[in-house]
Amino acid sequence: MSTNWTSAEIKKAFYTFFESKGHKIVPSAPIVVKGDPTLMFTNAGMNQFKDFFLNNAVATEKRIANSQKCLRVSGKHNDLEEVGHDHYHHTMFEMLGNWSFGDYFKEESIAWAWELLTGVYGMPKDRLYVTVFEGDSNEGLGKDTESAEFWKKWIDPSRILLGNKKDNFWEMGDTGPCGPCTEIHFDNRTDAERAAVEGSTLVNNDHEQVIEIWNLVFMQYNRKADGSLEKLPEQHVDTGMGFERLVRVIQRTQSNYDTDVFKFIITKTAHIANTNYGNTEKEDIAMRVIADHIRALCMCIADGQLPAANGAGYVVRRILRRAVRYGYSYLGIESPFLCQLVEPLAEYFKMDYPELHSQIDFVAKVVEQEEASFFRTLSKGITMLQDQFAHIENSVLTGKAAFELYDTYGFPVDLTELICRENGYSMDMASFEAEMAAQKARSKQDAAKETGDWNVVNDGEEIFVGYDTMQAKTKITRYRTVLVKGKEQYQVVLAETPFYAESGGQIGDTGWLEIGDEKISVLDCQKENKLHIHVLEKLPANTNSALIANVNTIRRAAITQHHSATHLMHSALRQVLGVHVTQKGSLVSDKILRFDFNHFSKVEDDQLQKIEAIVNSKIAESISLQEYRDMPIDEASAMGATMLFGEKYGDNVRVIVFDPTYSMELCGGTHVKNTQEISLFKFISESSVASGVRRVEAVVGASAIALLNAALNENESIKEVLNRPKNVLESILKLKEENTQIRLKLAAYEQAQEMATKQQLQSKFMDKGNFKLLIEKVQLPSAEAAKNICFQFKNELENVLIVLAYTIEDKPGIAILLNPEAINKGMNASQLVREWGKLIEGGGGGQDFFATAGGKNAAGLDKVIEAAKQHFGV
Ligand code: SER
Repeated sequence: MSTNWTSAEIKKAFYTFFESKGHKIVPSAPIVVKGDPTLMFTNAGMNQFKDFFLNNAVATEKRIANSQKCLRVSGKHNDLEEVGHDHYHHTMFEMLGNWSFGDYFKEESIAWAWELLTGVYGMPKDRLYVTVFEGDSNEGLGKDTESAEFWKKWIDPSRILLGNKKDNFWEMGDTGPCGPCTEIHFDNRTDAERAAVEGSTLVNNDHEQVIEIWNLVFMQYNRKADGSLEKLPEQHVDTGMGFERLVRVIQRTQSNYDTDVFKFIITKTAHIANTNYGNTEKEDIAMRVIADHIRALCMCIADGQLPAANGAGYVVRRILRRAVRYGYSYLGIESPFLCQLVEPLAEYFKMDYPELHSQIDFVAKVVEQEEASFFRTLSKGITMLQDQFAHIENSVLTGKAAFELYDTYGFPVDLTELICRENGYSMDMASFEAEMAAQKARSKQDAAKETGDWNVVNDGEEIFVGYDTMQAKTKITRYRTVLVKGKEQYQVVLAETPFYAESGGQIGDTGWLEIGDEKISVLDCQKENKLHIHVLEKLPANTNSALIANVNTIRRAAITQHHSATHLMHSALRQVLGVHVTQKGSLVSDKILRFDFNHFSKVEDDQLQKIEAIVNSKIAESISLQEYRDMPIDEASAMGATMLFGEKYGDNVRVIVFDPTYSMELCGGTHVKNTQEISLFKFISESSVASGVRRVEAVVGASAIALLNAALNENESIKEVLNRPKNVLESILKLKEENTQIRLKLAAYEQAQEMATKQQLQSKFMDKGNFKLLIEKVQLPSAEAAKNICFQFKNELENVLIVLAYTIEDKPGIAILLNPEAINKGMNASQLVREWGKLIEGGGGGQDFFATAGGKNAAGLDKVIEAAKQHFGV
């Protein structure tokens, strides 16, 4: 084995080998999954081929191989907690795979795997073990003797081991394609270790140096929602080899992190943290966590999944926070650092995943801003913890307090525990976990969804005819019932459908099915991989009869106009703001279009106006649609068509062109035949959605006309109110100015009134012991005047006690001011005002020395005076 092969050479050899066996090398699918409700992220190379296994689509190529970006941090396959602590689990990893769709099966897969590993890569045969499925009586599955027999041709029988369902029966998720598998393991221990302990005893035993490298799955079943296994019509092969592990065993290092896949990131992190890898175990773990996580972050963000507060975005946010938290706690890094790792990583992946390299600035900026925000959270959380420590009981921080920090501020609980410990306290982890469990149960209940199995009525592949027609004579091929939060929903798939299923930002069509006399509403149309799922208000009485599927044409036309306008706007955005603008998200409905794109500052009003003018001029130009339904992707790319990062494109693509010099995009959506159909384009908002991402919203066609009409009507109403002046704006400005003048005059008048009242009151003070007491009923311009008068007397005279019972227009109020001596004697202005406030049917409050109340009944003011006189004994 040549231990000095680079990771790039190892990957290339894989491609070359499978090409020589008749395989087509295809690109990786995006790491972020769209259109499959059972998955958020690609967790295996086979995900993108799921439809071929389930017979929902027919593969044009029977043999395929590739390297797939995978992420295993949620759902059935979740390795997050191990990552960094061990040396061979990852969040993001590359999976090398070869596939057969109804073509070769066990014999060839096994022979080729052996040939590649031992022949091409030169792995020593006495370091390899293989496992085969031992069978499972509960599932009614026998031992995989076929695979064992094929292996015997190549490997010593003592190295063929039996494995149970957990290790040797591979399933994609709770439902979906599955089958027995045979795994290849490599013993990477030293010769002395190998002599001391027999390697076969360590296979599948979590030994750091005896690890699985390749899994060959023989897809034969579909796991249904009721738990049963259904035989697939054909047999397929799905193999997956962890690239990082492969490189490690070929380069013969003890850790994946010591290979050229990770080393440069570790070195750079050590440099930032001013330390060395290999110093202490804690620092090393932190550097491994960071090296792993930055790859996951970059791949997800480059494929369009930005950190967010929920769903897939929250997974990305958690990965970033885990990396920052390790950097902060164990490497003492206190400001954004992950962003510095984006560029070297993009360089490394430049050939395989160019989508990252083309977006370095964007990805780095998103990472940096997200990091900065989390560092702020950390420092806020630490201050809050310190506050908690001031009131802590029995030296234990409650689980509730820790949960609140975690839940509301995203403050990691392990950090809370660590800070508690460092300050000599402990944390009630059990009650924290109870809070967590309660929250999980709540959100599970909220998201509860039970998907029933398909009832297949008619066989065959489904055809979408909705680019050309809004109506189709067809039949149901399968139906099922889905329970969403306890409510039943009915879903059907049609042999031919004119219904556009929600995808690429365009919402799904609605309409109805006509089945004899029955008319059933189609409430929505969703995409599940390649299937168009029609959501019905109810199931037809007969699911097997012929029917007519009708799309709501008015709604579809409005959606279509918004979609074509989105293309026109995309080009205009690039023209006005720069070619860095790329789509980060979009929504196209019948009422509005929403478009998210990367741009680092606000789009100014004059820029929006320019963009709007360009789009409207393209509408007026009456540009005809040029649609290429089946163009080879290379041709589309050579033509210069815009492709989006994070989209999964096939070999043949649909290209939508409105003037080849203006707009060419790969797109599956519906489009107008001529731009004139859009009639009018109008922006309605511009805002920021995430770091470096702006959002614009616009309306077209009838929605734009309705918007303009509403604005014109409002304008009419304003004119009417103003008595139809010649110049509306001038007349509003004049009114505003008059208003300002009147306000100024009023203020001067009120001040004069206040002064006059104060002067009158001056002579009304009574001597009461050494206090000067004023109890009077007066008229005042404002509550502010009552306060001013009290405070002026307080400053001018000594030892004053004041009770003012006043009216402002007809409204009664009370103000009480006490001197310090009176307060010392136990008097309290706030208490008095509350008590006397009742006499005017009101209430109030304030401080010990000054308080006010307002009320409803001015007739009560005399009683206030009486009560005050009684209180002060006059
Ligand atoms: N699907 C299998 C796995 O992920 C083999 O590709 O391990």
